[in-house]
Amino acid sequence: MSLKISVKHHTTENLGSACLIVGIYEKSKLSDAAQLVDGICEGLIKKVIKKGDMDGKAGSTLMLHSPAGVSFDRILLVGCGKNKKLTTKDFRSVISSAITAVKGSGAKDAICFLNDITVDDQDTIWTARQTAVLAHHAMYQFDQTKSSKNNTSSFKKLVLNIANKKDLRKAQVAVKIGNAIASGMNLARDLGNLPGNICTPTYLASTATKNGRAATNMSVKILNQKEMEKLGMGSLLSVAKGSRQPPKFIIMNHRGGKKTDKPIVLIGKGITFDSGGISIKPSAAMDEMKFDMCGAASVIGTMKTVSELQLPLNVIGIVPSCENLPDGQANKPGDIVTSMSGQTIEVLNTDAEGRLILCDALTYSERFKPKAVIDVATLTGACVVALGKHAAGLLGNDDGLIDKINQAGIQADDRAWPLPLWDEYQEQLKSNFADIANIGGPGAGTITAACFLSRFTEKLKWAHLDIAGVAWETGTSKGATGRPVALLTQFLLGETRGKIGV
Ligand code: BES
Ligand code: MN
Ligand code: ZN
Repeated sequence: MSLKISVKHHTTENLGSACLIVGIYEKSKLSDAAQLVDGICEGLIKKVIKKGDMDGKAGSTLMLHSPAGVSFDRILLVGCGKNKKLTTKDFRSVISSAITAVKGSGAKDAICFLNDITVDDQDTIWTARQTAVLAHHAMYQFDQTKSSKNNTSSFKKLVLNIANKKDLRKAQVAVKIGNAIASGMNLARDLGNLPGNICTPTYLASTATKNGRAATNMSVKILNQKEMEKLGMGSLLSVAKGSRQPPKFIIMNHRGGKKTDKPIVLIGKGITFDSGGISIKPSAAMDEMKFDMCGAASVIGTMKTVSELQLPLNVIGIVPSCENLPDGQANKPGDIVTSMSGQTIEVLNTDAEGRLILCDALTYSERFKPKAVIDVATLTGACVVALGKHAAGLLGNDDGLIDKINQAGIQADDRAWPLPLWDEYQEQLKSNFADIANIGGPGAGTITAACFLSRFTEKLKWAHLDIAGVAWETGTSKGATGRPVALLTQFLLGETRGKIGV
């Protein structure tokens, strides 16, 4: 990552030439830091505010250049809203707009004095970590597939000022965690943004292998089609059949815990392009189905974060990966396939392919006798209808696990929200010809998709994250978000029982 972030307890004598980032509240109220800087700059900030150029609205910015009589070159005023108490939503916009403003200036380094703003019920340690995550997010640029890469910013170094010296050590750990989360998110975003003709199952496999080689305590194994056949993954392979790209089954194993510690398994849907297959999708926005491997990307990204932090846990990342295309060999509606579990599946809609590859991955995960399994998938359009783009759908067969994941999402500001998985919904999956149908009719699409997966998790403590709404943004800011790497990391940090974290 190009931006280096560190923490310091700064004295105002030691500011160098950096850009100072200070907060202004609504009603022309200066933050403590702004007050201080105003003092050494002969009242410059107060003058500017009086003239009406900065009203303190959360997320507004104003760059002041060449303040007289001081060493630093710039002061960035950042609106921090009302009452010193921001919502997490406003806080995101404050940090993002501040970093975007510095990124677009000529500044090489900046010192951020926004750490003392109070965000909902969070402390300054939380703020430090989130600032790191949001800053890296704002600096992210995807230009791998552009011919010219002229968008490089000169902004390379960000120092977070920690007002209270006694918080410094904790803030250091927080920023380290934030940096690691961002590095996993950036990898997830890169993989998501790459097009289907580049980011194939083979590409995902080699990325995972490369990361595994670079990491400590991680091994990566890739199963090819033959090996999957031997294991009886008939459901996964039925989806792969319609494509000329060979399917890959990726297993990443981070051994950070004791040998006897049961692993936590993360499974990510890795459909590198979803055309729908024979039940083909409408052509509008079909390009966005290159993002159908964002579950896989988030698992590969989280494994990177886990490894960078050397979490004292055993974590296994599994990615079943293939394309879903129409072809003479492809699944046809009505086809019946046999899953690795032995259950037969009637493929009533070839576009419900995610569950067909995930079910075999879930069965495969049984061999690890996991403590918990979490699958992450862009599984249903219905989830976007239900929750929009703000929260992932959260379902599973263990209330304790669901609760932990829900809390982790809130804490990491990468939210998921529970939906019910009641037995009543299971009836929608009845098939006249096989053990189970792969679709459940028009109602409750996200729930019936999870019901399908639940048939393969009877031996597991399992939760499912439907990230169809949160994995990428559409419109002018089209691109992968890197979610839910932060949620997954937060959950895993919780599993370390305070050994890592603040
Ligand atoms: N990858 C899609 C889900 C999806 C669609 C995610 C749109 C984000 C935006 C998935 O494979 C799919 O096609 N699901 C179908 C299921 C249906 C056939 C039961 C859907 O949601 O329409
Ligand atoms: Mn589909
Ligand atoms: Zn899909």
